[in-house]
Amino acid sequence: MKGLVLAGGAGTRLRPLTYTGAKQLVPVANRPVLYYVIDNLVDAGITDIGIVISPETGAEIREALGNGSLFGAKFTFISQEKPKGLAHAVMIARAYLGNDDFVMYLGDNLIGSKIRSAVSDFASKRDVSAFLMLKEVPNPVAFGVAEFNDRGDLIGLAEKPAVPKSNFALVGIYMFRSSIFDAIGRIAPSARGELEITDAITKVIELGGRVDCARIDSWWLDTGKKDDLLLANDTLMDDWLVAENRGTVDQASKISGRVRIEEGARVCGSTVRGPVVIGKNARIIDSHIGPFTAIGDEVTVERSSVEHSVIMTASSIVDIARVEDSLIGKRVCVRPGAARRTSLSLMVGDDCIIELSSD
Ligand code: G1P
Repeated sequence: MKGLVLAGGAGTRLRPLTYTGAKQLVPVANRPVLYYVIDNLVDAGITDIGIVISPETGAEIREALGNGSLFGAKFTFISQEKPKGLAHAVMIARAYLGNDDFVMYLGDNLIGSKIRSAVSDFASKRDVSAFLMLKEVPNPVAFGVAEFNDRGDLIGLAEKPAVPKSNFALVGIYMFRSSIFDAIGRIAPSARGELEITDAITKVIELGGRVDCARIDSWWLDTGKKDDLLLANDTLMDDWLVAENRGTVDQASKISGRVRIEEGARVCGSTVRGPVVIGKNARIIDSHIGPFTAIGDEVTVERSSVEHSVIMTASSIVDIARVEDSLIGKRVCVRPGAARRTSLSLMVGDDCIIELSSD
């Protein structure tokens, strides 16, 4: 079985971070979301993986992934020139996929469980044409939604319907046989001008194919917005963070709870309360970090306190009494200015949110 990971798209919901980077590379617990996707496929024995990339972020995705050897896999990159829908992405990958069965996995989705048993189930049930993963959600209108008949059989899917027929959303992990190409060939673009995979799967059912699904009980995080991303970070660190110190911690520092310190990182005169991850070559000086905080590679925090936040590569926070619930991109400087006490001096890109304390 092959893998097909979709790693294109504009990432409008995660602006401004996605103006300068792919949404699939936004870090959760200091690792790009996409790495967890690849891990899950490789864990299921899928090592021949096609990665669909876009002209905007393709180079960055290729650089972050390499040829696959980092993951014990082999990657084939496939360019999708325009975002014309998930089913369109499958079509352009046809030469790569050939007649193999495959797992399609959206590269910005994180789930708290392994797909291994679902993959082996699908591989063995030859009468099943497609297999979907679903999760019960309170807000199905934001997703692809499943429709069932009275007996509980899946009878159709709708993409972001105004009136959803159930609370079960498509998690962005699908398994197909080569019969999906025929179904895609029979659908037309939707109102938003895309070839929808939901329409193609509904077509499989209409043509008499059997589509099975599994309802996942573990968490599912669609890393769509700031709060989702902070929640993904909390959940991942809570569930999976392995404490280890590969850096240097001086005598004056106090580390408690689960804390992961990467190579070259230095912690001096500071308190770190886990779960916390501190990236490579980061410097934490006379500061308080955590809990639930991811400090990226090359970050500096000096004489500051940072709690429940994600600070990405090469940013610095110096002399700031308290940073909380924040998502800070790459190469950002947060520091007191020389301006008068009551004024602010900012240089901020498009679509940023600045929330200041009111006292
Ligand atoms: C896509 C799919 C949708 C699915 C969702 C999962 O939507 O079109 O069916 O439920 O991913 O994250 P998007 O996130 O691209 O809006």
